[in-house]
Amino acid sequence: MEQYIIRGGNPLVGEVEISGAKNAALGILAAAIMTDDTVLIENLPDVRDINVLLEAMESIGVKVERITKHAVLMNSKNVGDLCVDYEYIKKIRASYYLIGALLGKYKKAVVPLPGGCNIGSRPIDLHIKGFKALGAKVTIRNGFIIAEADQLKGSHIYLDTVSVGATINIMMAAAMAEGRTIIENCAREPHVVDVANFLNSMGANVKGAGTDVIRIRGVQSLHKTEYSIIPDQIEAGTFMFAAAATKGDVMVKHVIPKHLEATTAKLLEIGCEVEEFDDAVRVVASKRLRSTNVKTLPYPGYPTDMQPQIGVTLALASGTSIVTESIFENRFKYMDELTRMGADVRVEGNTAIISGVEKLSGARVSAPDLRAGAALVIAGLAAEGETIVDDIIYIQRGYEDFEEKLRSLGAEIERATCERDAQKFRLKHG
Ligand code: UD1
Repeated sequence: MEQYIIRGGNPLVGEVEISGAKNAALGILAAAIMTDDTVLIENLPDVRDINVLLEAMESIGVKVERITKHAVLMNSKNVGDLCVDYEYIKKIRASYYLIGALLGKYKKAVVPLPGGCNIGSRPIDLHIKGFKALGAKVTIRNGFIIAEADQLKGSHIYLDTVSVGATINIMMAAAMAEGRTIIENCAREPHVVDVANFLNSMGANVKGAGTDVIRIRGVQSLHKTEYSIIPDQIEAGTFMFAAAATKGDVMVKHVIPKHLEATTAKLLEIGCEVEEFDDAVRVVASKRLRSTNVKTLPYPGYPTDMQPQIGVTLALASGTSIVTESIFENRFKYMDELTRMGADVRVEGNTAIISGVEKLSGARVSAPDLRAGAALVIAGLAAEGETIVDDIIYIQRGYEDFEEKLRSLGAEIERATCERDAQKFRLKHG
């Protein structure tokens, strides 16, 4: 089992380059299956979730050629099997995007029903509602969702809850349905827009992505394209909070500052300086940070995927902060770990009340999920002494070269697989 071993206390200083957005890439790779032509996708992050999705796609006949660490050529003309194996969906929930993509193109998809996950129950009833509205027959048998239709027909769909996954999945299926589809109460996240732009670059007719109404005119076929994925706003935000929590000075490069507005607003509120450039933001924290209140909301609100990162930062701010999680019910597991590092936190339902402490002290903690894992690394970097973060497999799902990027900013962090690695780290770092 791999773990991170961290010697905390160094302010992070320097420049860091952000990778392509994992969550956009998941939708875009799935959508690439909808053309028989070869598609070039660039700025792909080299992270576990993406590599597992590519394997899942290869298993149903997609030809995948990784031409560089961050670019793939994909050709799906020989897709023969419309049934995705449970092994993949177990590792990566977002392989459910293959339902919308396969249903749109082949009018049939057989994909295992994803279960819950560490951040809470993750139903896909809205995805199914959308497919049915497009005329698909959707059944659940032996743990699989079987979606099929003789023909998909455009429809008017209202989403009861704002859902990124349902918006993207329905948008993909509707891109190749007959006639016009209107999806209302859509998610407006940047990755919804990126998947829409990608579909349009293949010849789809999707309008309104980024607003809460998306209008799609179905087309019969899609064609080749070359497309570069947007930068990852959650990775960027994670480094911004790492700079804040360690009282550092970090230039976060290759970002779209507009996508970071909610994060930037909170950093300013708690006393950081944030300077925006065309494609970079610089975060400087020179004094003790102040408390604030924050509630997670769909975009452009404060992202649930940035909740643990602000949570650990507020654990060190002066005063009492209230963090409210309104998207997923189980996203405060990391608070118990943080308490073991000396934080003063009380969780009541979907609210965490954090009384800031002067300092955290290193401890052995466990990453409960992807974003909370990254947040515990931030806590370790800001804490006094040694922190070990177990279960870093979660972090590797979504952060490319995480420890290398942190080390380039002056962090003392190594990946360790055994006690000998840990001893080597201690010898090196005193
Ligand atoms: C995506 C992101 C995830 C992020 C989340 C919210 C990807 C691969 N993952 O997840 O990192 O935390 O958006 O920004 O992009 N819901 C239903 N029924 C459904 C679908 C969703 O009730 O059919 C509910 C969910 O339980 C949740 C809320 O809607 O409470 C939002 O979830 P959703 O936006 O769908 O999250 P994901 O797309 O799964």
